[in-house]
Amino acid sequence: MRLMLDSANLKDLEKALDIYPISGVTTNPQQIEAEGCIDFFAHLKSIRALLGPDRSLHVQVLGQNRETIIGEAEKICSILGEETYVSIPVTEEGLKAIRALTERGFNITATTVFSTIQGILAMLSGVKYVAVFYDRMLNNDIDAPRVIRELSSLLWTNTSNTQVLAASFKNVTEITTSYANGAGCCTVRPEILSTGLAMPSIQKAVSDFRKNWEETYGNKTILDL
Ligand code: E4P
Repeated sequence: MRLMLDSANLKDLEKALDIYPISGVTTNPQQIEAEGCIDFFAHLKSIRALLGPDRSLHVQVLGQNRETIIGEAEKICSILGEETYVSIPVTEEGLKAIRALTERGFNITATTVFSTIQGILAMLSGVKYVAVFYDRMLNNDIDAPRVIRELSSLLWTNTSNTQVLAASFKNVTEITTSYANGAGCCTVRPEILSTGLAMPSIQKAVSDFRKNWEETYGNKTILDL
């Protein structure tokens, strides 16, 4: 089971990487736009520096045909190095490029997945992750948990090492439902993770335990005993 951060904001990423058990970062053009008119590759190199060499960085292509997508994937990987995953939308042109690139050993994350058939085609084309767009599916009245469940169960009968990467979340319940339905990985905006720990009951329980301790040992800490 893995957890990734879904953001291109350096400050948010740095803070979240310090707190949560993170195995990678996913980015998309919307998040890049939110950072303003940045130097694209310099910014992604900064994210890589925060991640270190072993965690995955997922970068989306914009090309609309096989050749352009392949060219963009080659450039992204040559600049950003190992543990870079190229996110490619599962369209007809996208699938052509995915198949060509996985045959050459590129790490591919199939993205903009809204249906089981898209996920199956990506899986059979050798991708490492299938990014299922949970909240965008709900907005289209698509049963996102069902799609995640179907794709996750198909992984058992597929010999590739693909993982379902649930994405596009608006709340904590969508994340836990994705894991419970078999998603191997979720990519989450840092502020949603903070919400998961912000419940007043958590802080109250911590304060109550602290009071119990102080009533017993006063100002002494465990280190003083
Ligand atoms: C990640 O890979 C996706 O691009 C992202 O989760 C989409 O999120 P959104 O639907 O909130 O834009």
